[in-house]
This record gives sequence, structure tokens and C-alpha cells, in this order.
Amino acid sequence: MASLADQAIRWHEGRLVLLDQRVLPNQVEFVECTRVGEAVDAIREMVVRGAPAIGVCAAYGVALAAREHFAVSPKDWIEHMEADLHALVQARPTAVNLKWAITRMRDVIQHTGPGDPEPVLLKAARKLHLEDVQANRALGEHGASLLKDDAVVLTHCNAGALATGGYGTALGVIRSAHAQHKIKTVYADETRPWFQGTRLTAWELLQDNIPVTVICDSAAASLMREQQPAWVIVGADRVARNGDVANKIGTYALALMAREHGVGFMVAAPTSSIDLEAASGAAIEIEERSQRELTEYHEVTLAPAKAEVWNPVFDITPAGLVTALVTEKGVVHAPCEEKILALLQG
Ligand code: MRU
Repeated sequence: MASLADQAIRWHEGRLVLLDQRVLPNQVEFVECTRVGEAVDAIREMVVRGAPAIGVCAAYGVALAAREHFAVSPKDWIEHMEADLHALVQARPTAVNLKWAITRMRDVIQHTGPGDPEPVLLKAARKLHLEDVQANRALGEHGASLLKDDAVVLTHCNAGALATGGYGTALGVIRSAHAQHKIKTVYADETRPWFQGTRLTAWELLQDNIPVTVICDSAAASLMREQQPAWVIVGADRVARNGDVANKIGTYALALMAREHGVGFMVAAPTSSIDLEAASGAAIEIEERSQRELTEYHEVTLAPAKAEVWNPVFDITPAGLVTALVTEKGVVHAPCEEKILALLQG
């Protein structure tokens, strides 16, 4: 039976059902969406998060939008869709998967015949969802082949089943390697300020009986010096044409540390996360979230009221620091534009 994390996004009896990632691991709760606006809010408020997962959620959101508009205007429902498609793309700016999913769904919308569009769009969303899981399983195998036995690895944020349609990217590599008995232990950065590592990655790995040790983000350099992990394995929100990687804030620091300590730096991402329109990381918008993520914790005030706050939630790792980009189509060692284009064309 699929694990709870692998069912974090489900379509059930006409509703989009999302495992609420804001309250894990202490509470297992679900948010149900019957309207597209609820799907937009769920992405924005991080009920669902992780680049591929928000893409999958947006695809189902398109089916919800079509249902709403067809009920009111069966003849010209398509004309009313644009604002919702825009809202879905804009819900979070850094991951390219929202744009990718909406582009695919827009194409399906344009080819719907007369009659109720919901079944057609639902089928397309399900296909996109399934393809993401298949891509993760394939990239998991590719990534695992780079690991030797008894591997100690470090991961950042949560790039697991929760962050995707299922199985995970960075955690997909770790799951595949674990199935091959190659994993000694996984270190999970806590990932401030939202604690994706402490709350989600640790929970997900333990569900699969994969040994995990949580460290605070600032322990990573000491870990590299003292434990010599074989790899840092992370996901990506967007990979630019030249191989620069946007991912959770702190990823860039890890890549610099990894280079200094001779540790491999692996980025595991489906090709849907590659954005050929972004020539380099400089073209990628970095989301900044509420100051309150840093100044408060569970309504306890942490910072003096007058303190200025800067809360960028992603950063750019230059391609030159990436040892391997692992996709469902194969591995790109020391990624650059030429190799990425060859991968996509091949
Ligand atoms: O802010 P989040 O939790 O959505 O950020 C998620 C990440 O940065 C992940 O590493 C990335 O989306 C890849 S998920 C497979």
C-alpha cells in the first residue's frame, strides 16, 4: 500500500485532497479543495509545497476551475479560465513547475470539445501526476547508481514524496539507494525557518525505516569535516539553461561547503524543473516570504519589534558547484548549457 507521504495529493470523489504539510508531523490533517481559489490558497500558504507537488496541485486546480466556469457559462467557459490560470502560476514565483503544469493544461483546454471539460482535464491532471511519480522513480535509480555502499548523505529541505507527485527527487534517490542497501545514514538539515527538514524529511524517512539524524543548518560544515558524507543530495525548484540551480535557502552555502570538503553535490530534479527560458540563475525570481516566519514561532515573538528582516526562501547555486544533475533522462555530470540541451534532445 502507498505510504501516507505518497498520497499527499489525491483526487477523491470530485475533490482535491491535500495532506496539510503545515501541521506535520504532530497532526495528520487534510485540506479539501472544491474550488480553484482553494487550490491557489493551498499552494500559497504551503499546505502543499515542493516544486513538483505544487505543479501537480495546479493541474488538478485547472480541473476545478473548468468545473466552476462550465457550470456558469457552458458555452464560453474557456474565456473565463485565464484569470485562474494566472493565479495558479503566480501562487509561488520560484518553482518553474507551476508554469510548466499550466502550459500543459492550457494545451489540453484548447483541444477540449463541446460538453463538460472536467473529465478531460481531470484525466490530463492525473496523467501529469503519474508521469511525475514515474520520473522520480527513474531519477531515483539513476541517482542511486552514483552512491557506493555504506553511504552517509546529507539532504536539505524536503524533496521527498511530500514535495512531489510521489516517491520524491532527492529522497527518491535516497529511497532507491536504501532499497539497494547502500545507505548508512541520512543527515537532514532542519531547514529554517519553515523546518521542512525537521518536520517533513525526518518524518518521511522514518516512515520508510531509513535512519535519519537531524542537524541544525549551521552544523553542516562540521558534519562535512567530521563525518565526510559521500554526497549532499538536494532537489531543485528550477534549473536554468546553464545549470544554475534555484533551491531552498541554504542550498548555495551547502554547495560551497561541499566543494571545500571534497563532498559530491547532487541535484535531483525531473526535467520538468528545467527552464530553458531562464538563461542563468540571475533570471529566476526568488520568493521572499513574510517577516513573521523569522520573527515569530507559534505566536511566540523571537525578535525585537523594530528589527528589520530579510526572508528570501530560495537561493541560486552556480552550476560550477554542482557535481551531478540527476534527472529521469539520465545524469549530467558537471552540468552546463551544452550538456543540458543534449540531455533534453536525447
Ligand atoms: O518552500 P518549499 O518547501 O516549497 O521549498 C521546497 C524546496 O526547496 C525543494 O527542495 C524543491 O522544491 C524540490 S522538491 C522535490
